[in-house]
Parts: sequence; structure tokens; C-alpha cells
Amino acid sequence: MKVLVTGASGNGGQAVCRALLRAGHQVRMADVMPAKAADLAAAEFVRCDTRTVTDVREAVRGMDGVIHLAAWHCAHQPPVSDDTIFAVNVDGTYNVLEACRKEGIRSIVYASSMAYGWWSVYGVSKVIGEDLCRAYHEMTGASIAMLRYHEFIPRPYLEFGARLLRNGVDRRDVASATVLSLEAAASEAFGLFRTIVHTDHGMPEDVRADFARLGPEWCERQLPGGAALLERYGIELPKEVEQHDLSEASRVLGWQPRVGFLDFLRDLKRREEQGLEIRELFVPSELPGEDA
Ligand SMILES: NC(=O)c1ccc[n+]([C@@H]2O[C@H](COP(=O)([O-])OP(=O)(O)OC[C@H]3O[C@@H](n4cnc5c(N)ncnc54)[C@H](O)[C@@H]3O)[C@@H](O)[C@H]2O)c1
Repeated sequence: MKVLVTGASGNGGQAVCRALLRAGHQVRMADVMPAKAADLAAAEFVRCDTRTVTDVREAVRGMDGVIHLAAWHCAHQPPVSDDTIFAVNVDGTYNVLEACRKEGIRSIVYASSMAYGWWSVYGVSKVIGEDLCRAYHEMTGASIAMLRYHEFIPRPYLEFGARLLRNGVDRRDVASATVLSLEAAASEAFGLFRTIVHTDHGMPEDVRADFARLGPEWCERQLPGGAALLERYGIELPKEVEQHDLSEASRVLGWQPRVGFLDFLRDLKRREEQGLEIRELFVPSELPGEDA
């Protein structure tokens, strides 16, 4: 497919573009800023501000599918104003969906969020975004997936690991869910579809519900030396692990997350054996090939 990705230069966008290219799709990246990543230089890039109707119409033209990620969220430093968040996330989404209608695009993925709700302008922008998706599905019959991503904000490596036990997800899992959603939309596997994109640790329920107490022993059984890693790096364990039912995404999209807490621990062990300065590592890694 020829796929437009808005917000393509961002953290999620780069992972999505790589996953699309690996799956054999042609990618048009659209953003206000080009990506710095060298491996994405081969993809087409168009400078597009989603607030500008003509930019969006040009970007969408000739595409088979659209993945709409462009948005500001609350984690940027220095912060983005609520006015800008609303303009980009709401007007921008309207412009993208309207351009899709005019250009006859039938396969769309929209980046929603677990922050969906009424507690912040950002959360409300995702409520309105999902409502717009519903309206455009009703009006045009396009297949639209609304993905409520969990948190994949760049952060220090050890924090990333601890976050996986809470509301964190690896951006590679975000990317695979997104690409499979687009492909499922193209095959009309659904009309309007909404699902959660989070991680799965494959741990028994008793361990999940009492992780601070039972977790270290469980980790040790799965990975010898695992309990000592938790101790050595002071990884703070939640009382219970956040886990959602991801069976709908598995059934409809054939998607399963790949990066759970044990994968992080295995990775930590490997990096320690390589003699890397663990406390200085960052996710996503800037090293070539590390994030494939
Ligand atoms: N990061 C998370 O934890 C998280 C969680 C849930 C949902 N989401 C959603 O996922 C999507 C991607 O998030 P991300 O973390 O990759 O964000 P990001 O900030 O890393 O990337 C967003 C990209 O959008 C671009 N952008 C901003 N304004 C634009 C405009 N007017 N026109 C075109 N491009 C514009 C930015 O230049 C940036 O490259 C967003 O919709 C976000 O709300 C993110």
C-alpha cells in the first residue's frame, strides 16, 4: 500500500514508518519537521502542517491508507500550550479526515490514547478525535481503527523497564499494532474499531496481583539472576501490575505485543554482560539497529 503517516518524524512515527517499510509498504512521511534518522531518508517526506487544509490535501492525495499520528501531548518540555494542543489535535484531525473523504481514502488509523477523557485538554482532544472518526466512518463507510496507545514517551532505560509494569508499552509494539490495524482496515476486517495498545508480561494472575511480593521470585524462575538485577538497579516494583485484556486486538488484528517485562530483564542482563553503562542508556536507543 501507499501509506501517509502524519507526525512521522516523532517518536511513534519513526517506529511506525520503519515497520511499514519492513512490511513492504511505500511510505510518505508528513510532519512539520523532517526526521533526523538516516534509515528513513529513503522514504518520501512532505512538509505538512495538519492545521493547513491545503498541506493535508496534498499529502493525502494518491495514498491508499492514512495513519494519523500528528499531535502534541502533555509530556513535551518545555510544554506545548493547550491552545496549540487543541488546534493541532482537533483541527488537524478534522482536516486529515476531511481530506481522506475528499480523496476517497478507505483505510485509516487514528492515534488515540489511554489519556482519553475529560481531565485535560489533551484528553478531550482524543475524545473529539474518536468522535470525528466515528462521524467519518458513518458518513463515508471508511474502515477506521482508533488505537488507545499506552505510554511510550522517551525516557531513561531503567525507568522504561519499571514503566512497562505500569502503563508503559514499547514503541515497537505500538508500531506493529498500527501497521496491522492499517492492513486489517484495508481488508475491511472491521468498519470502526477501537482497541487498547499495551504490553503483556505473560505472568500468572496471582503474581500479577501481588507483584511487589511475588514478582522477584517469579522473575528469578523465568530468568536466573533476574531477582538480583531488580535489586542491583533498584527497580521499583508496583504492588500490582497493570494488565488489560488484549484478546480483541489479537482476534481482529492478529496482534500481540512482543516486549514484556521479562524481555526487558533479558535485555538488561545482556547489556550488563556487554559492560554497558546501564544508567546512561535511553529508550529509544540512538544506536543503529538497536530499535529494529
Ligand atoms: N507518546 C505516548 O506516550 C503516547 C501515548 C498515547 C497516545 N499517543 C499519541 O500517539 C501519537 C504519536 O505520539 P508521539 O509520542 O510519537 O509524539 P511525538 O511528539 O514524538 O511526535 C509527534 C509529531 O507530530 C508532529 N507535529 C506536531 N504538530 C504538527 C502539525 N501541526 N502538523 C504536522 N505534524 C505535527 C511533531 O513535529 C512530531 O514529530 C500522538 O497522536 C499522541 O497523542 C502518544
